Amino acid sequence: MKKNLLISGDNLDGLNYLLANGWKGEIDLVYIDPPFATGGNFTITNGRATTISNSKNGEVAYADTRKGGEFIEFLRARLMLIRELLSERGSFYLHTDYKIGHYVKVMLDEVFGIENFRNDITRVKCNPKNFERVGFGNIKDLILFYTKTAHPIWHEPRQKYAPEKIATLFPKIDAQGRRYTTVPLHAPGETKNGKSNQPFKGMLPPVGRHWRTGAAALEQWDHDGLIEWSSNGNPRKIIYADASEGGRRQDIWEFKDPPYPQYPTEKNAAMLDLIIKTSSNENSVVLDCFCGSGTTLKAAQNNGRRWIGIDQSDLAIKTTMAKIADNYDALFTERSYTFLPLRPAVIADAK
Ligand SMILES: C[S@@+](CC[C@H](N)C(=O)[O-])C[C@H]1O[C@@H](n2cnc3c(N)ncnc32)[C@H](O)[C@@H]1O
Repeated sequence: MKKNLLISGDNLDGLNYLLANGWKGEIDLVYIDPPFATGGNFTITNGRATTISNSKNGEVAYADTRKGGEFIEFLRARLMLIRELLSERGSFYLHTDYKIGHYVKVMLDEVFGIENFRNDITRVKCNPKNFERVGFGNIKDLILFYTKTAHPIWHEPRQKYAPEKIATLFPKIDAQGRRYTTVPLHAPGETKNGKSNQPFKGMLPPVGRHWRTGAAALEQWDHDGLIEWSSNGNPRKIIYADASEGGRRQDIWEFKDPPYPQYPTEKNAAMLDLIIKTSSNENSVVLDCFCGSGTTLKAAQNNGRRWIGIDQSDLAIKTTMAKIADNYDALFTERSYTFLPLRPAVIADAK
C-alpha cells in the first residue's frame, strides 16, 4: 500500500512527480483551497494568522498576487494534472470566492466537462458584518464540485433536522412520549417475482407499487412495533424523530472559519470531514495540493483515508506537521517520515 506523502514545493512539480511515480488514476478525492486572487500577502504575526490579504506586518505565509487571466492559467495548468491523477470514481472540490469563482467555474467546465459539474455549494463562512461599503454584506464563499465520471464514490450525507422543524416533521407522539411520523410501506414501481412483491399478512402492494422491503423484514418491523395499522387495516412504517438520520444535505453549508486560525484562511475541519466522508472510501487517497495548515490531511487521517499534501510555503508545511503531529501515533505508524530541506522546491517523499 502506498504511504502518505507531504510534498514541499510548487505543486506543479509535486503533481508532475505524482504522475511520474504511479499515482495516475489512483486518487479518489481532491479538495483544493488555492489563493483567491486577492492581490495581497497573507501573514502570521506573533503566532496569529491574519485574515486579510494586505497585511503589512508579520511573516508572509503565502502570497496571493496573481490576478485575472494569469491566475486562471496558473490554476488551469494544475487542474489538467489533477484530472489525470483522479480515479474513474474520483471527485474534485475547489474552494473559491464570489469575485474570482465564476471565472474559475468556466475554466473548470472546460477541464472536467460541464456534464461532470455537480454543485456550486454556498459556504457560510462568518457572521454578518457591518462594514460600511456599497453592496450587501458578504458572508459566503463557494465550493465548486465536479466528478471525473458519472459514477463517483458517493455516500449520501444526511443532516439532522433543526429542532424547530421536528414538531412539524414528526407530528405524532407515542405512549412513551416519542415523536414520530409514518410513511407508506410501499413505493412506486413494480418488481416482478422479487422479495418485495410477496404477500405480507395476506396483502399485496397496490398495483404499480412494491413493498419497501421483503416480507420477512416487514414481519420483523411489525414484531418490533415499527408498523402502525390504521383503523381500516392500512399499514404504515413508523419513523421516530430520535432515530432519524435527518434529511438530505442541501447545497448551502454553514461551516464558519475557525475563530483562532493557526494559518491564514485556514478552513473548518468539520467541513472537510463532510467532504471526505461523502466522496471517498476508507483507504481512499485524498489529495490537497494547496494544503496550507493541513486541514484536509488531518481530516483524511481522522477518517481512515490516506493522504497527499503539497504546499510551497515553509510556514504551511510546519503548521501541517504540527497539526498532524498531535495524532502522532497514527501518523508515524502509517509511514516513516523524513522531512527533507524545504528550499529550493524539494519533494519530501515519505520514504
Ligand atoms: C488558502 S491557503 C490553504 C489553506 C488551507 N485550506 C487550510 O485549511 O489551512 C492556500 C495555500 O496554497 C499554497 N500555494 C499557493 N500557490 C502554490 C503553489 N504553486 N504550489 C504549492 N502551494 C501553493 C499557499 O502557500 C497557501 O498555503
